[in-house]
Amino acid sequence: MRSISIFGATGSIGEQTFDLLMRAGGPEAYRTVALTGGRNVARLAGMARALRADIAVCADDAGLPALRAALAGSGIEAAAGAGAIADAADRPADWLMSAIVGAAGLVPGLRALRHGRTLALANKESLVTAGPLLMAEAAAHGARILPVDSEHSAIFQALNAEDIACVERIILTASGGALRDWPMAALANATVKEAMAHPNWAMGQRITIDSASMFNKSLEVIETREFFGVEPAQIEVILHPESLIHSMVGFRDGAIMAHMGAPDMRHSIGYALNWPSRDHLPVARLDLAQVATLTFRAPDLDRYPALRLCREVMAQRGLAGAAFNAAKEVALDHFLAGGIGFMQMASVVEETLSRLSPDFRLGNAMMTLEDVLAMDHLARTRAGEVAAHMTGSR
Ligand SMILES: NC(=O)c1ccc[n+]([C@@H]2O[C@H](COP(=O)([O-])OP(=O)(O)OC[C@H]3O[C@@H](n4cnc5c(N)ncnc54)[C@H](OP(=O)(O)O)[C@@H]3O)[C@@H](O)[C@H]2O)c1
Repeated sequence: MRSISIFGATGSIGEQTFDLLMRAGGPEAYRTVALTGGRNVARLAGMARALRADIAVCADDAGLPALRAALAGSGIEAAAGAGAIADAADRPADWLMSAIVGAAGLVPGLRALRHGRTLALANKESLVTAGPLLMAEAAAHGARILPVDSEHSAIFQALNAEDIACVERIILTASGGALRDWPMAALANATVKEAMAHPNWAMGQRITIDSASMFNKSLEVIETREFFGVEPAQIEVILHPESLIHSMVGFRDGAIMAHMGAPDMRHSIGYALNWPSRDHLPVARLDLAQVATLTFRAPDLDRYPALRLCREVMAQRGLAGAAFNAAKEVALDHFLAGGIGFMQMASVVEETLSRLSPDFRLGNAMMTLEDVLAMDHLARTRAGEVAAHMTGSR
């Protein structure tokens, strides 16, 4: 029986992973080692009981008494805190889902790779902050990373193990998010609720707002470079409002392989779970006559400054990705709290990058986890200062 762990079990990706496991037979089909959550202790305990996990860990220390109480009599261990989450990644599991949101997903993922495990990676922030380190650790320990982001799963499937040297370009599709058709002048005053109204995908709050600003796509551009090892100039972004083509690979003979399907994350989660076999999945089948038309258009960089910023980050390399992600997370916190406007998120990130850029260089040295965490911390502090300065100046 295969053993699995889910990091970020109580989130959108975690829930959909849980759904697939339960449909497959739950504890009769998989041995669950660890489940982790953030604050939603009641749901975490419920999932741990349903899958008969060895241990459940919540990020929030204050949640430990409630987690213990909810697991009383089950024989399931309870723990709390970032250290306990990272320790849970040391427990032997064949397959681990990395679905914590934000830079907090980096350390557990890295620990799993150091044990040579298979990591299903939804947490794109780890590749953005520490791509070279993650890929080097995976190679050194014979670990495998399977992409879960729908775009990267699509590219992985379209590549179908072909030689990456035959690839001319990778075309990432983007829905354009909730505010895609708004007049430019109105974007400054867009609210959290308005940015949350994603046209096609049901996702967690943070990634949904990042989709509206295209910070999510900008992370995915960097993720593509790190995971597939292509040059930034080979990566294109195209607006595709229907979200039915999940991404494309263009080869040097002019052929383009596109991956299509209904917008349902259980496809890419299930693909990573069953890989290398392709098993039945409970996702809707496309009726192409009903779809009738697929549309594409170039994204406007004034509307989506994040797409311009990610190019600068890739040109700088070193620790620029760690700063970019951290500044983006802080800017999003300030937007959610109502301090800054929707378009000011990009201004916070751009200003933070320009203040820190002399500190990004690593020369020829491989980044260490300590370098990445130090830059993450510094960028959060600087971005917090920049955002505080902008507060109220919309
Ligand atoms: N949702 C999607 O469709 C989708 C698609 C592609 C990629 N992704 C990527 O997948 C990851 C997860 O996204 P999501 O939408 O599932 O996010 P989400 O719904 O916000 O869930 C995030 C998960 O992480 C936990 N968490 C939050 N802060 C944490 C911390 N500091 N330490 C440990 N755990 C913490 C949350 O716990 P609580 O809820 O218990 O607080 C929850 O289990 C992100 O990297 C995202 O970019 C998501």
